[in-house]
Amino acid sequence: MPTMSNRVAPFGTTIFTEINQLALQHNAINLGQGRPDFDGPADVIEAAMKALQNGAVNNQYAPGLGAVPLRQAIAAHAQRFYNLPVDPNAGVVVTAGATEAVFSSVMGLIDRGDEVILIEPYFDSYVPNLVMAGATPIYVPLHPPTWTLDPDELKAAFNSKTRAIILNTPQNPTGRVFTREELTFIADLCKEHDVTVISDEVYEHLIFDSAQHIPIASLPDMFERTVTVSSLGKTFSVTGWKIGWVYGAPELIKGVNQAHQFITFAANHPGQIAAAYALSLPGTYFEEFQTMYAAKRDLMMSALKGAGLKARTPEGTYFVMADFSDVFDGDDLEFARYLTSEVGVACIPPTFFYSTEHAHMASTQARFAFCKSDGMLQQAAERLATLAR
Ligand SMILES: Cc1ncc(COP(=O)(O)O)c(C=O)c1O
Repeated sequence: MPTMSNRVAPFGTTIFTEINQLALQHNAINLGQGRPDFDGPADVIEAAMKALQNGAVNNQYAPGLGAVPLRQAIAAHAQRFYNLPVDPNAGVVVTAGATEAVFSSVMGLIDRGDEVILIEPYFDSYVPNLVMAGATPIYVPLHPPTWTLDPDELKAAFNSKTRAIILNTPQNPTGRVFTREELTFIADLCKEHDVTVISDEVYEHLIFDSAQHIPIASLPDMFERTVTVSSLGKTFSVTGWKIGWVYGAPELIKGVNQAHQFITFAANHPGQIAAAYALSLPGTYFEEFQTMYAAKRDLMMSALKGAGLKARTPEGTYFVMADFSDVFDGDDLEFARYLTSEVGVACIPPTFFYSTEHAHMASTQARFAFCKSDGMLQQAAERLATLAR
């Protein structure tokens, strides 16, 4: 009997599937997957409904690069927030979520045998993407509890075979937002070694307190060597729509589109029309969104404290990493299974976001997602408090 390819056989099942099933089985509050339990803004949903009903055009294939109004909105958004000069005609590709945006970037910009630097812990699709492209991941860890890079370790990862680095800021799962100083250090190494940056910025609007999101493409001489990835799902609480994009210098975007045209060809058309509307919302939308999430973050932090877990306050994203070693003897997978089945709160064991070599760094950590209604977070806090007792 024919069976799966050697390429995908080692991938296994994602940890999210196991934890989601366990959470369902035990009726646990699911703080595992980054999936809001509340709806997106009513006017954005209304824009999608209107797009669906607005004649036949929106219900047929969109142009491969993306619907014109969305490409224009993406360029205008990059100009408005970061002063970046994105060309809506040749500098943008609209994709099926950021997941496809990263995959198309990897397939379109990286050759078999190239080395690509990944910062650990990383988003879980990056490694399979590189494996499918025949590239070699080179791992550089962020060090707990501050989740910072060791400059010497990063420097040592660059060599003549390095083709690209995949960066993610604000960072899932640590909640770090890279500073200008850190980004400048990375940018200087990329320039010195002529390396491309794939910068995954899906949490660009999820920042707290005084943190500032700086796209690495906005640093001097970086625009031409960077493709920036983002998506609608996080910023507008519509993760199910899977509308994402890549923008950057036309020479790089051409490569991304060469791959994209034979992966999905085009993303869903009505969603793109609504995305154009959403990205053009006034600044107040983005401010209120941050205020809402800052309150959720504070609820989550006090829940973790009440449970006896140690966590560094995230500067961005809707995730937090917490050290459970004061309240539980065992590794992160054992803890996640225990917490889900015995305490009734699901979390994600983060060693799955590391190479085997560095996984030990997160073996007493758990990732919690706080993109949940306040009531659910309060209920989770009550359950988590039993851990400290
Ligand atoms: C860092 C990061 N990149 C990409 C994605 C995927 O985004 P999308 O749902 O738009 O494909 C996620 C979703 O959790 C993420 O956390």
